[in-house]
Amino acid sequence: MKILALNSSPRTGIQSKTELMLDHLVTGMKEAGAEVEVVNLRKKKINSCMGCFTCWTKTPGKCIHEDDMTNELYPKWLEADIAIYATPLYHYTMNATMKAFIERTLPVVEPFLREREGNTYHPLRQKHPKLCFLSVAGFPEPQVFNQLSAWVNFVYGQYGIVVGEMYRPLAEVLDLPFFREKVDDIFSATEQAGKEIVQAGKISPETMARITQPIVDDKKEFYEMGNKMWEACIEKGLTPKEFMEQLEG
Ligand SMILES: Cc1cc2nc3c(=O)[nH]c(=O)nc-3n(C[C@H](O)[C@H](O)[C@H](O)COP(=O)(O)O)c2cc1C
Repeated sequence: MKILALNSSPRTGIQSKTELMLDHLVTGMKEAGAEVEVVNLRKKKINSCMGCFTCWTKTPGKCIHEDDMTNELYPKWLEADIAIYATPLYHYTMNATMKAFIERTLPVVEPFLREREGNTYHPLRQKHPKLCFLSVAGFPEPQVFNQLSAWVNFVYGQYGIVVGEMYRPLAEVLDLPFFREKVDDIFSATEQAGKEIVQAGKISPETMARITQPIVDDKKEFYEMGNKMWEACIEKGLTPKEFMEQLEG
């Protein structure tokens, strides 16, 4: 099984909670025997879709842009059995880098109009990879992902290609030692989810419950900790990354 993991976070290393979660997901998928390639979209040139519909008319299935999407990513994406869309939650949805990638997958459908269960759709020109969504958010409530999940299911549910949705709220604490035990369980559940997707094509409810488990009992505790950090950052004129580096070093 070939899996293409697309990470749209602009951050790297332990600062990126998308990357942290994705690393564990990929580990589980590899352990289950899948061949996984991880691509950091921040390093790629992906022009915005221009809406010219050249990919539907003059050169069916091929975009007019000459960039990393046309020359490298789109062919890889078409070959993949599963594509992982790993994105930080920005303004309660995927970030712009991930959206730019998704808009550029337009050549995979044909322009023709069809109807299914009262909804208009475009038929697929080629096989669309199955999709696994991973997102992380700063806020602690699971419902911050409601809009993203509704979008995912509206757009891709109709094609029956969604094999997983993993949404981790309160992700900014995943690199802190205070919550080690719970965080380790979340990471091991994320690896387990990777195995389940490869072996069973879905994530079990038990694994999902571990991924989304609450990390703090009382939100006030989290507010207090977060607000102290922001106050210190403002006072010292440091970004959170610089602040953490100062604390550690
Ligand atoms: C521009 C921007 C918008 C954000 N919007 C939200 C949001 O709507 N809800 C939320 O819970 N967190 C939001 N966050 C917090 C991020 O989701 C959080 O920092 C996450 O860890 C980012 O992923 P990364 O660590 O992989 O970069 C936002 C962060 C930024 C920079």
